[in-house]
Amino acid sequence: MKSTADFTKMKKSNEKIVMLTAYDHPSAQLAEEAGIDVLLVGDSLGMVVLGYETTALVTVEDMIHHGKAVRRGAKNTFVVVDMPFGSYHGSDDRTLQAAIRLFQETGANALKLEGAGKVIETTRLLTGTGIPVVAHLGLLPQSAAVDGGYKVQGKTAAAAEQLIQDALASEAAGACMIVLECIPYQLAEEVSKSVSVPTIGIGAGAGTDGQVLVFHDAVKYGHHHVPKFVKTFTDVGSSIKIGLEDYVKEVKSSTFPSESHRFTMKEDELTALYG
Ligand code: KIV
Ligand code: NA
Repeated sequence: MKSTADFTKMKKSNEKIVMLTAYDHPSAQLAEEAGIDVLLVGDSLGMVVLGYETTALVTVEDMIHHGKAVRRGAKNTFVVVDMPFGSYHGSDDRTLQAAIRLFQETGANALKLEGAGKVIETTRLLTGTGIPVVAHLGLLPQSAAVDGGYKVQGKTAAAAEQLIQDALASEAAGACMIVLECIPYQLAEEVSKSVSVPTIGIGAGAGTDGQVLVFHDAVKYGHHHVPKFVKTFTDVGSSIKIGLEDYVKEVKSSTFPSESHRFTMKEDELTALYG
């Protein structure tokens, strides 16, 4: 399994880091087989898998349940688990309790926290406890309700300068990687040059040290909204639908199951049964 030191080496040698979200055992297995460097059990879980309206409804229990499945499916891949909304904004004791549960019970390699400000102290608290932290700056889905929704962040010089400072502060507090979501590509390039830990972009252009996509967006699985910055690499949703329609048709028409799918009782046993 690659380590945070390996990811820093990859940044230095310009080898891109590929991150993908995963929420269950088969997706984690497929991602590991495909050569994904980092799996993220994102709280996007709430929207793409659980059908919640926002990520704010995702609980620590939800994250642990799915984090465990991903760990079991990808034993040799670096796994990051999101701390969900509300689990790291109360007292330090409460934050530590949630973080230790998420880290220990899922067997994750790191936890991800959104934002800077007070979260910088929280990053220090967790790394000081021995829990590697991935920072997440730019568009922060967990606080979209007060930040004015899903919009590109860091577009003004002042906002960009603040984001660079937040990235430096995250690194200084011990963050091992920084996710940059939905910011202008020029700013993402600048942040990536300013910090020595790897940056992972989503909607942040090609100048970051790596990229992350939501599994269901990348393979077109489900009917949720797909943002402009997403590329769909395959369309499993359509093939699943075609397959399921065929299943319905074949059962309705008694085409399935066929003789090859059934079990047979021997003639003599049948005679013994019915005479
Ligand atoms: O929850 C998630 O999927 C994320 C990525 C978009 C970075 O945080
Ligand atoms: Na997230």
